[in-house]
Amino acid sequence: MWLLLSAAGLAMADGGPSSRDTAALDAGDRLYRQYCASCHGIEGEGQPNWERQNARGELPAPPHGPEGHTWKHSDAMLYRIVAEGWRDPWNRTERLTMPAFEDVLTPAEIRTVINHLKTLWTPEQRRHQASESEGSPYPADRRR
Ligand code: HEC
Repeated sequence: MWLLLSAAGLAMADGGPSSRDTAALDAGDRLYRQYCASCHGIEGEGQPNWERQNARGELPAPPHGPEGHTWKHSDAMLYRIVAEGWRDPWNRTERLTMPAFEDVLTPAEIRTVINHLKTLWTPEQRRHQASESEGSPYPADRRR
């Protein structure tokens, strides 16, 4: 029984229809759960009342799906937000409410987790964001 189960596990991990893309998405999902879900929600749903400042005078973590505005940022901008952190300029505190991840995640991991966010968008949003990113790609793509 154990042998059968582990064989099935191996088959699922390795093969089937899972291409490189699926593996990358799984990695993105894992990174997202580990580093982002505590604030942005396990499904990317964001924090309640994310469009308004909370009692501390800070904007809560927004959703990453169709209802949010993550999809309106180019790859370059998304990379910058995740690597260097971000705060709304109108927040009444100075801290980066969106923490900087450049010392936590590698550049490849940052791209992988951002690519995971793209799976939450509508096809139209994905197309829009892709064309915005043509002139504003990830920093690594710029060197090509
Ligand atoms: C400690 C809580 C926290 C964690 C953890 C966190 N974020 Fe954020 N994030 C925020 C907050 C708060 C904002 C809103 C900042 C603002 O605009 O004031 C934000 C904003 C963003 C934005 C900009 C969205 C927009 O609509 O402009 C992106 C993209 C983002 N986060 C991605 C991530 C990713 C990817 C991770 C994990 C690697 C992550 N965040 C982890 C709190 C967090």
